[in-house]
Amino acid sequence: MELESMQGLKRTHQCGSLSRKEAGSAVVLTGWVARRRDHGGLIFVDLRDRSGIVQVVFSPDDQDAFAKAESLRSEYVVAVAGTVRVRPEGTENPKLATGDVEVVAREVRILNRARTPVFYIEDGIEVDENLRLRYRYLDLRRPEMQAALAFRHRAAKVVRDFLDSRGFWEIETPFLTRSTPEGARDFLVPSRLNPGKFYALPQSPQLFKQLLMVSGVERYFQVVRCFRDEDLRADRQPEFTQIDLEMSFVDSEDVMMLIEELMAAVCCQAAGVEIETPFPRLTYREALDRFGTDKPDLRYGLELRDVSDVAAGCAFKVFQAAVAAGGQVRGIRVPGCAGYSRKDLDELTQYAVRHGAKGLAYFLYTENGLKSPIAKFFSAGELEILIQRLEAAPGDLLLFVADTPEVVATALSALRREMAARLGLVDQSRLAFVWVHDFPLLEYDDAEKRFVAVHHPFTAPVDEDLELLRSAPEKVRARAYDLVLNGVEIGGGSIRIHRRDIQELLFAVIGLAPEEAREKFGFLLDAFEYGTPPHGGFAVGFDRLVMLLAGKKTIRDVMAFPKTQSGTDLLTGAPGAVAPAQLEELGVRVAAKRFGNGLKS
Ligand code: AMO
Ligand code: AMP
Repeated sequence: MELESMQGLKRTHQCGSLSRKEAGSAVVLTGWVARRRDHGGLIFVDLRDRSGIVQVVFSPDDQDAFAKAESLRSEYVVAVAGTVRVRPEGTENPKLATGDVEVVAREVRILNRARTPVFYIEDGIEVDENLRLRYRYLDLRRPEMQAALAFRHRAAKVVRDFLDSRGFWEIETPFLTRSTPEGARDFLVPSRLNPGKFYALPQSPQLFKQLLMVSGVERYFQVVRCFRDEDLRADRQPEFTQIDLEMSFVDSEDVMMLIEELMAAVCCQAAGVEIETPFPRLTYREALDRFGTDKPDLRYGLELRDVSDVAAGCAFKVFQAAVAAGGQVRGIRVPGCAGYSRKDLDELTQYAVRHGAKGLAYFLYTENGLKSPIAKFFSAGELEILIQRLEAAPGDLLLFVADTPEVVATALSALRREMAARLGLVDQSRLAFVWVHDFPLLEYDDAEKRFVAVHHPFTAPVDEDLELLRSAPEKVRARAYDLVLNGVEIGGGSIRIHRRDIQELLFAVIGLAPEEAREKFGFLLDAFEYGTPPHGGFAVGFDRLVMLLAGKKTIRDVMAFPKTQSGTDLLTGAPGAVAPAQLEELGVRVAAKRFGNGLKS
């Protein structure tokens, strides 16, 4: 069958828009053949465009159209002219939004043919994700992916409209720039015009947005791509999108309130969900104490309790030793799991060990009190304190980890998440936002043997703690705040340093020699001398926000063209080798042996 043009036919409706209202109307539709069925002399074609699917009927009375319809295959691109009619009673399809009607075809034109797609173009397919990424253009044709793209678009639009209404200007900042440290590795781009020199792709627009405050912009935002060379996970991509913003003459409260209103606008206008503001707040300390993480999921309880005092005095050597070594023993109460078998408990222990614990101590709270292989090491009084401290009741399972505070927190927070999931304690319909604030400004990096910024080195210290910057850097609190949604960090921000002397002092404390600080950040330090207003801001991880609002498990499902865990783009094959001449031009040589890329060195 010859391919045809659309000449003379103009699309009148979208497939998914037809209903009883259009019955009797002549329509022209365009789209893809989702399915063709031959039935009792009639041919039924499900025609799909991005709005949905509608059934088209071909009858042998119309020989030309019927013959063409016989040659239609899945994913052929067609234009159909016909008339909408209400389906004969009993043949309605309640699963289809357009299921009350069908289009009786008068003419069909085959605009393009298609090879048999490598997977079904429909929702809920169980296909290896790599295949989906390799054929992303087909994957994106599936209704659930189209819905994700549309939702992401709507969310970005709400963000732009909201920020515009609050006086923010969207201003683009360079991608080819110098390193903007956010704690990851930089992607580098060699400069042909400056052989041996490199641009760094920005890990965020942090420095430029601060410079825009020096420029008097007062309120900046950008929906912007950021680039970070780090290990990838379900919620991390090497290039991702931030809603980045910065404001002058504000304190933390102003920024946090604005972000709450922004979140409320997105949730309501894009997702149709009303959320409660103000969001609850936890200090960093409280978050770690109660949940073992600075990204707590507040949709369920299972909070951590400290029993180090009991542990220190008991006869169980593992507990005693942990506390004696400066560590702690903490536990969680899992309701209704006192019936766990030995096998269940071994499995849980393995889970805890995978998350860094050396073991897992457990007590089954039965009608006869706490049962455990290690119960014999505890006096009746000590067991009673464990029960009280964890507010346990018969039927509960108590789990304890003894180790350094970091190991205990990591293992118990993982167990908390695991048990909540197993017991179905997570209310999937809830959006639990929480602020985490009062972070330390700096932490000691044992590997690097120096202090490093917990956020980034442009974050301002709390005024009262300024004195401590030299004497006890670990004690200095930051004017920083993170936003967490359902256990995922979806954003972070801070009030910034806006004085050269303090910025220089901070660089010194994190071990940046004065020459190095000048070399890397001299432009910022200089700018601070030309009338820099106090300022602060925030960045929302847009992919993560959209993922959570759309109910997806990975940010890949809300990105059109994401990369795999190993940072490759299976569709285009990037990153790829380049011609030796290109390298020559850039003055770059690849260490062939090390990377085994087959190039002659
Ligand atoms: P931060 O580094 O916390 O702050 O980044 C802000 C938010 O961006 C998201 N995010 C990511 N999302 C997907 N893939 C990644 N690799 C990735 N890395 C980060 C997270 C994170 O909370 N300039 C500061 C903001 C500021 O201080 O104003 C910044 O970039 O959701
Ligand atoms: P053991 O005396 O090493 O056989 O351990 C006895 C019980 O204590 C086992 O259930 C271990 O899983 C548990 N256990 C061992 N180390 C730890 C630890 N660091 N924290 C909590 N429980 C532990």
